[in-house]
Amino acid sequence: MGLVTYKGGNAYVESVSLQSLGERFGTPLYVYSRKKIQDSCDSLLKSFSKHPTLVCYALKANSNLSILKLIFDQGLGADVVSHGEMKKAQHVGLPSERIIFSGVGKTREEIIAGLHSNIFSFNVESVEEINLIGELSRQEKSKTRISLRINPNINVRTNPYIATGLYKTKFGFPESQIKSALAVINNFPELHLAGLSCHLGSQIKNTGPYREASKRLVHVADDLRNQGFPIEFLDLGGGFGVSYEGKKTPSLAEYAKAIQEPAKGRPYLLVVEPGRWIVAESGILLSKVLYKKSNPHKNFLITDASMTELIRPALYEAYHPIEACKKRKGPLRTYDVVGPVCETSDFLGLKRKFGPTESGDYLWIGFCGAYGSSMGSHYNVRPRAAEVLVDGNRVTLIRNRESTEDVWKNEILSEY
Ligand code: LLP
Repeated sequence: MGLVTYKGGNAYVESVSLQSLGERFGTPLYVYSRKKIQDSCDSLLKSFSKHPTLVCYALKANSNLSILKLIFDQGLGADVVSHGEMKKAQHVGLPSERIIFSGVGKTREEIIAGLHSNIFSFNVESVEEINLIGELSRQEKSKTRISLRINPNINVRTNPYIATGLYKTKFGFPESQIKSALAVINNFPELHLAGLSCHLGSQIKNTGPYREASKRLVHVADDLRNQGFPIEFLDLGGGFGVSYEGKKTPSLAEYAKAIQEPAKGRPYLLVVEPGRWIVAESGILLSKVLYKKSNPHKNFLITDASMTELIRPALYEAYHPIEACKKRKGPLRTYDVVGPVCETSDFLGLKRKFGPTESGDYLWIGFCGAYGSSMGSHYNVRPRAAEVLVDGNRVTLIRNRESTEDVWKNEILSEY
């Protein structure tokens, strides 16, 4: 069942009416379901239980502290790409040995923080990075586990902005450069090459690329073991597809099979790093219609949510379902749903059909739990939205709405 259900024409998340949340907390408001997040974590752990697998949640999808706590309490680890994400994971009590640090541009400070915390692994992406992690490990007298991120050049048929496993992207080492990377690693007894990793992209809605990537990593790992590098784990990254249009996507069991089968009978721990799959459907963005407006060509619903709360439509032309919280009977009319920001790309949905709708009505935008709030901005000096977590009929505020002053609190009015 979807996240939002209707009773008597009114929209609910779990047992709470969205209209009541809008009236109580104001809009724009992110609303998440505790049950949905827990169920996603459960399904992941169950689906991947056939082969030893560490499921590391990719914090970039949504790093609200309360949501992280829920996810880590279910037994997941973390995939982080900044010191901030690492600190947040640790702040909610995740043991550092369940943290993987990914990303092409880790700073010296970030590497030192990871070394001090003794994290599970750094996924390394360039020779210069290996040199820096090696030197810092020597300096800090630390034995450091690293994994080589391989760029397998596998095409995944997703939006080009979120495809990462191709040679034209900045990510990883092509297989042809593994040998030279190993030579650099060999200069540092402090470095332990414990794993191989890759991440093909996001919204991968078929399992073939995972099977192909898993086969390649197993092949390279076997080869490396023969050369005396005791590879322990293979990290297949994240990217499991979620259809925002309600189309069929592979089940978790199918993704798990594609990833695990090539590693069957091998000694490797597998790692996956899903972000979107865990949280996308668990969250909606609640918004109020400020104005209705028509010209001879178009009808618009101007809402108080915009690209500063949800940039995905503007950035990727992403589709998110949008529905009225109160459904009225009557003829349907087509609208563009747009925000108040001064950009033509500030739309949440184009050519959407609604029954009779008035200014003051609440709308909900679906599949906003992933890459919604986490990609939010202050553009146009707009305060960041509040966030609530619903659990049955209980509602907890998990992020305060910012005040206007919060937006510029770090600016300095120079007296030159
Ligand atoms: N691991 C690595 C190394 C990644 O770069 C990513 C996502 C993930 C895991 C998690 O991927 P997921 O399971 O969430 O697909 N802002 C875009 C998505 C960018 C994803 C970047 N990397 C969007 O809104 O669609």
